[in-house]
Formats: sequence, structure tokens, C-alpha cells
Amino acid sequence: MDVLLLGASGRIGRRIAAELLDRGHAVTGVSRSGTVEGIDHAQFTAIAGDATDPDQIARLAAGHDAVGSALGPGEDDSPAVLEETMRATIEGLRRASVDRLVWTGGAGGLEVAPGTKLVETEGFPDDWEDLARAAIDAYEVLREADDLEWTYLAPAAMIEPGERTGEYRTADGELVADDDGESHISMEDFAVAFADELENADALYTYLGVGY
Ligand SMILES: NC(=O)c1ccc[n+]([C@@H]2O[C@H](COP(=O)([O-])OP(=O)(O)OC[C@H]3O[C@@H](n4cnc5c(N)ncnc54)[C@H](OP(=O)(O)O)[C@@H]3O)[C@@H](O)[C@H]2O)c1
Repeated sequence: MDVLLLGASGRIGRRIAAELLDRGHAVTGVSRSGTVEGIDHAQFTAIAGDATDPDQIARLAAGHDAVGSALGPGEDDSPAVLEETMRATIEGLRRASVDRLVWTGGAGGLEVAPGTKLVETEGFPDDWEDLARAAIDAYEVLREADDLEWTYLAPAAMIEPGERTGEYRTADGELVADDDGESHISMEDFAVAFADELENADALYTYLGVGY
């Protein structure tokens, strides 16, 4: 598969790129800087682009089989840029006639109990609330895009660099937690889940939680 990966230079994006390349896919990795450190592979091309611009997305996406996103706001960006990049990406895919989009989202909109989202729970960190709500706003835009084949893949509450075990569990719209009630996943195993979803499209039109 030829995959355009938005946010390929980020912490999660680099691991998704590496996982896809290991599986034999070709990856064009987009970031504003146009450089992706730590990936040197014949099937990988790093390219500069701004994911808030639908024209740029359309030009970059043309000829690819699918688009993935691990976009996240930079330090100087408002969290609201997530919704802007979602709108531009959707529009860019339409113009490029690319149907498939797998998006790295946020855990905040996943349910921890019927009718209760993680972001609504007591103890959800204040510092993360704006970002979590912005990620939900972006999801609300995506869920209207039923002309695309989309999946919104959300990591567990905690996602950090770690080991690639190849193991993970998923839940439709729900936060995934382990037997001790901890919700976590390594970035490497999240990348496995992301690549599995790109290859198999098992969770179309789903806000899918991923964790151990
Ligand atoms: N538990 C959770 O819910 C959880 C935890 C962690 C992360 N996440 C989500 O996962 C996503 C990725 O996180 P991360 O930590 O890997 O982010 P990150 O390290 O900050 O990477 C963000 C990537 O997006 C790129 N980018 C930002 N704005 C762009 C634009 N306008 N055009 C093109 N590229 C752009 C950045 O490159 P440039 O700056 O060079 O453009 C970088 O490659 C985020 O949406 C984040 O909210 C969720």
C-alpha cells in the first residue's frame, strides 16, 4: 500500500511510519518541517506540507491508497487546530479521490461508563482538557464524512514510548483498561493497531479505543 502519513515526524507518527515500512508498505511522511528523524528506508519519503491547507493535502494525497494521521498541535498552536486539520484533510482527500483515512485521535471522548466520557470524569487533568475536547470536536467533523472510509483510532489514557509486543485490545467507543483498571499502551503497539486497521479496515466508521 502507498500511504500518506500526516504528522510522520511526531512521537506516534514516527512509530507508525516504522511499523508500516516493516510491513512492506511505502510511506510518504508529512510534517511542516519536512524532516523525520530516525527513519532511513528506501520506501520512505519525508516531505514538507501544512495539514491545515486542503490544496496541499489534495496534492500530497494524490496517487496514494490511503491517508493516515498522527497530527498533533505544535507547542505554539491552539488545540482547535486539530479540527482545522481534520476539515482540511477531509476536503483534501475528496479532491484527490482518496477514500481511506485512519486518524490518531484522543482518549477523552471514549466512554468509561455508559454515557460518561473520560474527559468528563473527576480527576481528568485540567491541563489536558482543552486538547481532549478539541480532539472530540475533530471527531464530530469526521463522523459526518460518510463519503470517506474512516476510522478514528484513540490510544489508551496513557501512551508512551515502550516495547512492541504486538498485543493490544480494542473497544468500540470505550476506553480500554487492563485488569488493574489501568488504561495504557506503548506507542509501538498503538502503531501495530494503526497498521492493522489500515490493512484490514475492521473498524470502519468507528471511534475505536486501543489499549492493553
Ligand atoms: N491518550 C491520548 O488520548 C493521547 C496521548 C498522546 C497523544 N494523543 C494524540 O495523538 C496525536 C499525536 O500525538 P504525538 O504526541 O505523536 O504528537 P507530536 O509528537 O506533537 O507530533 C505531531 C506531528 O504533527 C505534525 N504537525 C503539526 N501540525 C501540522 C500541520 N499543520 N501540518 C503538518 N504537520 C503538522 C508535527 O510536525 P511539524 O511540527 O513539523 O509540523 C508532528 O509530526 C495527537 O493528536 C495527540 O493529541 C492522544
